Amino acid sequence: MPSNKTQEKEVEKVSSKRSFHTDKSATYWLPKDEDEQFRLAGQHFAIKDLFEGNMHPNIKEALDSEPNMTILDVGCGSCTWIFDMASDYPQCDFHGCDIVDVANKEMIPNQFTFQLGNVAQRLPYKDSMFDFVYARLLALALSEDEWPRAIQEILRVTKPGGWIQLVDADVKNNNQRN
Ligand SMILES: C[S@@+](CC[C@H](N)C(=O)[O-])C[C@H]1O[C@@H](n2cnc3c(N)ncnc32)[C@H](O)[C@@H]1O
Repeated sequence: MPSNKTQEKEVEKVSSKRSFHTDKSATYWLPKDEDEQFRLAGQHFAIKDLFEGNMHPNIKEALDSEPNMTILDVGCGSCTWIFDMASDYPQCDFHGCDIVDVANKEMIPNQFTFQLGNVAQRLPYKDSMFDFVYARLLALALSEDEWPRAIQEILRVTKPGGWIQLVDADVKNNNQRN
């Protein structure tokens, strides 16, 4: 049985292998390293399979009839959703925004622009810039207090008549359900 000191050392060793964002204003606590990006990429394909596609069918219908939209993924992480979408919609212009810069921009150099940005502060885009804004799995990224600002920002950068899709898990605990 290892002593407490040995156990402490092992915990340190494990945690020092992970790397995290350095945005002091952000409350997100999951790592940003290669292992995490690999996990997010695998999770992307599981979610795509579960929902039988990369977006809501109504948005797909609109995109299929107008396949040159300008699209933003907020909190894009590894950008697997963007890269997957870009292979189906090569005429769209994709933008990704996150508090960490971990995406491999070389995947689609002419079709993708990344910007660092915190959705709970201000997104680095002009008003009404996007036809479609997508944000997935930000439930662990934003505190309850940060959501109103984040929604306001997403609305601000979406064109009037544009599309917004938020995809998240229901993380309410049983006491909050009614
Ligand atoms: C669980 S990951 C989901 C990544 C991606 N949307 C996906 O579905 O694979 C959450 C992402 O949100 C980013 N994030 C956390 N807080 C953020 C903030 N305040 N503004 C923008 N992005 C944020 C994290 O860096 C991380 O890449």
